[in-house]
Amino acid sequence: MKFTRLISVTIFFFNCTFLLSQTKVSEFKYDDFKTPEYCGSACHTDIYQQWKQSLMAKAYTHEWDEIEYFKLALPHSETDERVAEVKAGCNGCHSPLAYVTGDIPPKKPSFNTRANESVSCEVCHSIVSFTGEVPYNHNYIMRPGKTKYSTRKSEIQSPVHEIVKSDLLRSGDFCGVCHNEKSPFGVWVKSTHLEWKEGPYFREGVQCQDCHMPKTEMRSASMGPVYKDMRTHIFHGAHDKSKLRGVIELKIYPDIDKVEPGEVVKFTVLLYNQKTGHKFPTGSVEDRIVWLHVEAIDSKNNKYHLPVDKKGFEGEEYTISSNALAYQDLGVALNIPDFKGLERDAISPGNRIFRMPYFDPEGQMTIQQWYTASLGVDYRIGPRETKVETFTFRIPDNCPPGPLKVTATINYKLLVESVGKFLGVPPSEYETIVINEQSTEIEILP
Ligand code: HEC
Ligand code: HEC
Ligand code: HEC
Ligand code: HEC
Repeated sequence: MKFTRLISVTIFFFNCTFLLSQTKVSEFKYDDFKTPEYCGSACHTDIYQQWKQSLMAKAYTHEWDEIEYFKLALPHSETDERVAEVKAGCNGCHSPLAYVTGDIPPKKPSFNTRANESVSCEVCHSIVSFTGEVPYNHNYIMRPGKTKYSTRKSEIQSPVHEIVKSDLLRSGDFCGVCHNEKSPFGVWVKSTHLEWKEGPYFREGVQCQDCHMPKTEMRSASMGPVYKDMRTHIFHGAHDKSKLRGVIELKIYPDIDKVEPGEVVKFTVLLYNQKTGHKFPTGSVEDRIVWLHVEAIDSKNNKYHLPVDKKGFEGEEYTISSNALAYQDLGVALNIPDFKGLERDAISPGNRIFRMPYFDPEGQMTIQQWYTASLGVDYRIGPRETKVETFTFRIPDNCPPGPLKVTATINYKLLVESVGKFLGVPPSEYETIVINEQSTEIEILP
């Protein structure tokens, strides 16, 4: 009898966690949360310094985030009913403390309020669960307080808090609460977690944490023991050149080694995604541009740019660089009537672009993910996928005899340059980063 009662009480509490609703705007006070400095200055010193360098420590203060929220999304949310929810919503992921305390809109980063803490220790270590089946749009359930949720039962007790072991923090689903996003039009505009879930790494049990929080021998707290498998908090991603370099491996080869001027050679380029657990690019796909540039150089140093061969799939025009204009919807938030748009790609024409275009309700390409009503062709490179591109090149009649060196380069920008310049975003956000490079040589006969 007693035993059944115990079981039903347990089941009742168990059910409760699942009935709990998503943490709401204004549910808590800032005082319910400790600052990252409190956690990091005397105890978790290494973890704190690692986290501080990561983009998640700057999710609210990073310049491009400030520009996009205050110049575009916030004014837009106040004039268009359809996107009104993003006024609070952006902060659900970029400044969770501002969101759960109802500090909406938060003061700008220069006011140095607690909104600046961004995705802090307390945010992640207070999350107990999420609502529904799929983690997305900050559907986390938070329980701040003396209990911290983590994955290790420490050998020694912390003097200031209790630790409860949580399997959620060990899983990639935990990251999905912020790394999946649906726009107010019901479109998946960020799907890093969903891409991982349908890819090879999830099937093999490799979590986000394994690639973004690699384990090493370290102390988790200054007074605690050294663990052989301590979780670092580096969270290195697209803003880290060391993480980006070599993500895609390249091979280029010709179909014939020796040719005369006037003859045609076909170069094949293989692109193998060797490193990412999701697609490349992922996350803020509306901003990113990844492209393959192929160039030949003859024995007299003349250069020839080789345009990619068309494949003929639907929507391919968005995957080959051109002089087309796009982003006309920036005129809506900025109140510029009849804004004619900006250069869509702002790179040399004829290159293959690995991207997925986002479209606004009028069908024009947009970088405003909250104003995205549909998506175009998904021509990104999946985890462990190999894409093949060909370049058919007629050797110019006046090409001098000797070696012809052909180089394939895969380049990357976090943000399309035309957009970055127009909005006054710091140039580091649109500098060109070389991901990889590979050459081959053929011989031009006299
Ligand atoms: C509470 C929301 C939240 C959670 C939970 C979260 N993230 Fe993030 N993450 C963000 C936001 C917001 C950014 C973007 C910051 C910016 O744009 O300034 C970000 C950025 C990142 C970046 C850097 C991207 C870049 O461009 O360099 C990585 C890597 C990352 N997160 C990994 C993870 C992993 C792994 C997990 C799970 C262990 C996780 N995140 C959990 C909100 C979250
Ligand atoms: C984006 C979410 C996120 C943020 C921000 C974050 N952590 Fe963590 N932390 C995690 C996750 C996830 C784990 C467990 C990973 C695992 O075991 O797979 C973890 C593990 C830990 C551990 C245990 C490490 C071990 O291996 O025993 C400590 C201690 C810790 N975090 C402290 C901090 C402190 C202090 C901060 C702030 C400076 C912080 N965390 C910020 C997500 C986060
Ligand atoms: C097999 C290793 C691996 C796994 C697993 C993995 N990632 Fe990544 N991730 C990478 C690499 C490499 C990059 C850098 C290239 C890039 O930007 O995609 C990256 C980039 C990122 C970025 C930056 C993307 C951008 O454009 O800003 C984020 C955010 C991110 N990962 C989050 C996650 C999350 C969340 C998961 C789990 C759902 C995850 N990663 C799983 C390797 C991995
Ligand atoms: C569901 C969580 C979520 C919501 C809601 C959200 N973001 Fe983000 N945002 C992220 C994550 C995660 C990243 C970084 C990951 C990446 O690029 O892979 C990010 C990245 C960004 C970036 C940086 C892009 C770059 O180049 O690194 C900007 C700017 C940004 N968000 C602005 C906004 C604005 C403005 C809103 C509201 C309209 C918003 N975000 C809503 C999670 C969110």
